[in-house]
Amino acid sequence: MSELVIAGKLGVVGAGVMGRTIIQGAIKSCLLPPQKIWAAARTQRTCDQVRQELGIDTFTDYTVQLAETSIIILCVKPYKVEGVLEHLKDNGLSPDTLIISIAAGVSLATLESLTGGQNPVIRAMPNTPCVVGRGMTVVCGSAQTKPQHLELTKNLFSAVGTCLELEETHFDAVTGLSGSGPAYFYLMMESLADGGVRVGLPRDVAVKLVTQTALGAAAMVQQSGRHPASLRDDVTTPAGCTIAALLTMEDGKIRSVLARAVEEATRTASHLGGSASSEKTLATAAHPD
Ligand SMILES: NC(=O)c1ccc[n+]([C@@H]2O[C@H](COP(=O)([O-])OP(=O)(O)OC[C@H]3O[C@@H](n4cnc5c(N)ncnc54)[C@H](OP(=O)(O)O)[C@@H]3O)[C@@H](O)[C@H]2O)c1
Repeated sequence: MSELVIAGKLGVVGAGVMGRTIIQGAIKSCLLPPQKIWAAARTQRTCDQVRQELGIDTFTDYTVQLAETSIIILCVKPYKVEGVLEHLKDNGLSPDTLIISIAAGVSLATLESLTGGQNPVIRAMPNTPCVVGRGMTVVCGSAQTKPQHLELTKNLFSAVGTCLELEETHFDAVTGLSGSGPAYFYLMMESLADGGVRVGLPRDVAVKLVTQTALGAAAMVQQSGRHPASLRDDVTTPAGCTIAALLTMEDGKIRSVLARAVEEATRTASHLGGSASSEKTLATAAHPD
């Protein structure tokens, strides 16, 4: 991947799990050298850790950095976004600075009103597998956002996985499916490994078998482009053990449990940052006109 061409620096406000992941991805894939990135955290302890781990400048008070910053990624918890943006606005945020927020449930309209409507603003929803370069990020831009802003943002998140642009109306659904999604797969993997242990496999072997099977199944769907149901049919021999297992899962209503879990996570996401888009998502799903 070639280096991003930006006039100033990239600032990451909130150097927690996701903030560090994005910075790591940008450095590892040579999108930006460490000297062109700074990060901010609430405590000096986090700042010291991040400076040591990633070799970038870190600050608890980052206001002097704003003049030479072209992109700010907001990686604080959703309830902190308002305070941080007000702080930025009161301390010389340039109207040219691109603001990218990864905060769940905080809408573009909220972000725009908090920045006074002058800055290009992009909303992004990544997930934690960005840490291992296998993340899934969805992005959308505000009216002030130019194609080059979206291109820059897509390049940044493509450095830590796959990046897709979608309408904002889908964002709570994205949060409920891919944002929270890794946790659903961990739970399923843990349960399947428990099954292996129940029938006599050592725990470490069971986890290894489950992990490679999950990776293999995901790659089959991704590379074949076939519907998962069709791939499932391939494994399901008449009177065999797979159909016995599948029927047991269906008895436990596995399909509706998983689908309803995504619906519930979507509904919850809609309340995190005062966004109304999810209620719209649920209503639109029920009445798709
Ligand atoms: N985790 C996920 O799976 C995931 C997925 C998609 C999106 N997100 C979104 O990502 C955002 C961050 O989540 P996270 O899991 O990375 O949180 P996190 O690990 O708790 O990190 C939050 C960071 O923000 C810093 N911070 C708090 N107040 C600050 C302030 N006023 N100025 C500057 N920095 C401040 C904290 O500093 P200290 O360490 O010093 O306290 C901490 O480093 C959230 O909005 C979440 O919705 C998370």
